Amino acid sequence: MNTSHTAKPVTARRSNALKGNVRIPGDKSISHRSFMFGALASGKTYVNGLLEGEDVLNTGRAMQAMGAFIQKEKDTWVIQGTGNGCLLQANQPLYFGNAGTGVRLTMGLVSTYDMETTFVGDASLSKRPMERILEPLRLMGVQVKAAQGSRLPITLHGPRVAAPLIYRVPMASAQVKSAVLLAGLNTPGITTVIESVMTRDHTERMLYSFGADIEVETPISGERIIRLVGQKSLKGQVIDVPGDPSSASFLLVAALLIPESDIVIHNVLVSPARAGIFLTLQEMGADIRFLDERITGGENVADLHVRTSYLKGINIPPERAPSMIDEYPVLSIAAAFAEGKTIMTGIEELRVKESDRIAAVAAGLKANNIFCTEGIDYLIIEGRPEGKNSGGGIVTTHLDHRIAMSFLVMGLASQHEVTIDDASMIATSFPQFINLMTELGANFA
Ligand code: S3P
Repeated sequence: MNTSHTAKPVTARRSNALKGNVRIPGDKSISHRSFMFGALASGKTYVNGLLEGEDVLNTGRAMQAMGAFIQKEKDTWVIQGTGNGCLLQANQPLYFGNAGTGVRLTMGLVSTYDMETTFVGDASLSKRPMERILEPLRLMGVQVKAAQGSRLPITLHGPRVAAPLIYRVPMASAQVKSAVLLAGLNTPGITTVIESVMTRDHTERMLYSFGADIEVETPISGERIIRLVGQKSLKGQVIDVPGDPSSASFLLVAALLIPESDIVIHNVLVSPARAGIFLTLQEMGADIRFLDERITGGENVADLHVRTSYLKGINIPPERAPSMIDEYPVLSIAAAFAEGKTIMTGIEELRVKESDRIAAVAAGLKANNIFCTEGIDYLIIEGRPEGKNSGGGIVTTHLDHRIAMSFLVMGLASQHEVTIDDASMIATSFPQFINLMTELGANFA
């Protein structure tokens, strides 16, 4: 467990055109779940294209601590699972670093075992709300010990026999939905989760392919009702993880904003539950083409051809937020260079990410001479087309990888350079970011 932290400032300067063909690392959500479901399945799971970021590696370590064997053979991660219901008690606290998905899903996964598990994380994760996970778990019979305000460190002890639950998720959160479903895997009977807005559905799709007894009903009310029959066996799978659309978005926005850029990003996940950013940028005037659209492992995948574009501000419908929730920081950079106002509403969940992203983005934009106004659940940005007079600021990243990458992208297109106080957290989700961008032509110091 490494909890020490040394800040690493980086400066981004106006760059020449970005050109080239790139592959980006695997999707973070699918990578976490690959380690978890592989660890739980009987037999071997083979994972190609796994994101080897710190967040996902911490999930892998947690699964090893509970009995799974995980090793890398050439480019493939091979997981020998314990079998559903057969995880072992870890003999020390499980450390999840910066990762909300890692800790929240694993809390669900182990909560219904009659054993004690302690969860810890870094300074950012230790500030994030966990009550949203603890509330449904308590209803299933789980005993909880938590730090003040339901924060980490948290210790869970499952009941001898957990009670299945019918649970309506009170906020748009794939993590809460997934935690309850994963708790249901070791619970007799049917666990039901209802969500009123669709969030990313990798848990449902992947559990189905691992052989879980899971079904999704979509009545005309628009809600999604997910039913999972517990205590069924899961079987190891072969998984090809597609490229992460959230990581792709940094390259994409950089290419849109830096004059005369022309890049192709290969093998990007573009399934509807994750594709809000592409639609939004296209509505703003972005030239993004989807090449060779295909289905891989049940997900939509495409190569993205992106060319520099003149962007206009738009009003983004709040119901689109779940399909692009992690992309608002980098979208804000696109908005900072667009003509007119970009209005983002219904984004209150951004306040509880790795940082308060509404506040962090607003402060970063203001430090770089972009006018914006924020409210509890909205952000309005007034763009400066072509970045006139933009930049020149130092941005506080609050241990948030997406704030760090977003403002580096800003510096590549601004009139004056942009410095971020700490680039080290980028390793949690996109360790190759600086190198890959530099190969395309980006100017960092
Ligand atoms: C994730 C769900 C989202 C997202 C996070 C990954 C997942 O979080 O922001 O990066 O893999 O389920 P919420 O469920 O809190 O919206």
